[in-house]
Amino acid sequence: MKKKILFLLLMATPMLVSAAGDPLVKESREAIKAFVGELKGNLQAAMKSGGPLKAVEVCKQVSPVITAEQSNARGVEIRRTSLKLRNPNNAPDAWERKILESFEARKAAGEDVRKIDHHERVVIEGKPVFRYMKAIPTAEKPCTICHGKSISPELKAALDKAYPNDQARGFAAGDIRGAFSVIKPL
Ligand code: HEC
Repeated sequence: MKKKILFLLLMATPMLVSAAGDPLVKESREAIKAFVGELKGNLQAAMKSGGPLKAVEVCKQVSPVITAEQSNARGVEIRRTSLKLRNPNNAPDAWERKILESFEARKAAGEDVRKIDHHERVVIEGKPVFRYMKAIPTAEKPCTICHGKSISPELKAALDKAYPNDQARGFAAGDIRGAFSVIKPL
C-alpha cells in the first residue's frame, strides 16, 4: 500500500513541477489573462450595444489603450501580434515573426493550438529580457465575424476605411489568428 503511494508521488512530482514551471511563464500567462479579460469585456459590450460595426470602432480605439494600461500596471510589455495584420502597429519584430512561424509549423504537426506557447531568455540591445508568446486561436464566434471568410458588406466597408491594408481576413475556426507577446526586463 505504502509502496503504491510512493510510486504515485514519484510519478506525479515531475508533472507538478512542469505544470508550475518557470515563474515568469506563470506571470506572463496571468498578464495575458487580465489583458484578454479587458479586451473581451469591451468587445462584448460593444457588440451587444451596437453590433460588429460599433465593435470595430471600439476595438480600434480601446485596443491600444488596454495594451498600454495592462503593460504599465504589470511592469511587463504585453501586446498582440500576427503574421496577417489588421493594424500595422501590431507588426511582429524579428523574434516574434520567427516564433509565429514556428507556431504555424507546430500546428501543422498536430499540436493543439490552444496550448501552443514559447518562452525564452534573450538579449535585446544589450539587455537581458524574458520573452513569452502564446498562440491565439480563431474561434467561430465572434472572431470570424470580423476576421473570417464571409464578412458582411457593411462591416467590410468599415474595415476597409479603418484599416486600408487589412490582411486579417479569411481565417477559419481553429486557425492561429496571431499571438500574445510578453516582454519582461530581467
Ligand atoms: C467586431 C470585430 C472584431 C471581432 C469580433 C474580433 N476582432 Fe480581432 N480585431 C478587430 C480590429 C478592429 C482589430 C484591430 C485593433 C487595433 O487597431 O489594434 C483587431 C485586431 C486583432 C488582433 C491583433 C493583430 C492585428 O491583426 O492587428 C488579434 C490577434 C485579433 N484581433 C484576434 C481576434 C480574435 C482571436 C477574435 C475572437 C475572439 C477577434 N479578434 C474578434 C476586430 C475584431
